[in-house]
Amino acid sequence: MRTKIRPASSDDIESIVEIENSTNLMPWTKAQFISSMEVGHYSTVLEHAETIIGFAIYSPIIPESHLLNIAIDPAYHRKGLGDKLLKQVILQNKAVGVKVINLEVRVSNLVAINLYKKNGFYKDAIRQDYYSKPEKEDALLMSLII
Ligand SMILES: CC(C)(COP(=O)(O)OP(=O)(O)OC[C@H]1O[C@@H](n2cnc3c(N)ncnc32)[C@H](O)[C@@H]1OP(=O)(O)O)[C@@H](O)C(=O)NCCC(=O)NCCS
Repeated sequence: MRTKIRPASSDDIESIVEIENSTNLMPWTKAQFISSMEVGHYSTVLEHAETIIGFAIYSPIIPESHLLNIAIDPAYHRKGLGDKLLKQVILQNKAVGVKVINLEVRVSNLVAINLYKKNGFYKDAIRQDYYSKPEKEDALLMSLII
């Protein structure tokens, strides 16, 4: 499947919000995505046939980087695209001098945990009740040394 990964612009926010609303139990609002871009987080989108079907957002504060969000449009799951996007995010972080990438993930989100493990992330700790909606849930903290 032909895809292109490129930096996001503010014109992409509507498409990003659509994917976010269909994939996240506690979705970021449009205002949160705008503010994320304004404060200088790195936003990357994955396109197919000129349609955005995935995105990732991370915040590098060298030597660390925080992976804040990553999602693929559910219509395109299980096609290797999440893996492709994550690998690109890892490369982009390496290129700017990041040495370790951190993230949090719901303990129930085995799909994402598998994706991270496949890419070499280790489980570091559990943060209790990190998520509040739809009900309280612990976060698994993971990291990758690059
Ligand atoms: C997590 C997510 C980005 C994966 O995207 P994807 O394009 O479907 O994933 P891929 O096809 O690239 O699969 C990569 C790996 O993820 C894991 N994975 C993907 N789908 C899975 C499933 N249904 N069950 C178990 N593991 C799965 C596997 O390890 C897979 O590797 P494999 O194909 O060698 O088994 C996607 O499911 C998503 O958008 N989820 C909602 C948002 C989310 O949870 N983001 C993470 C927040 S921390």
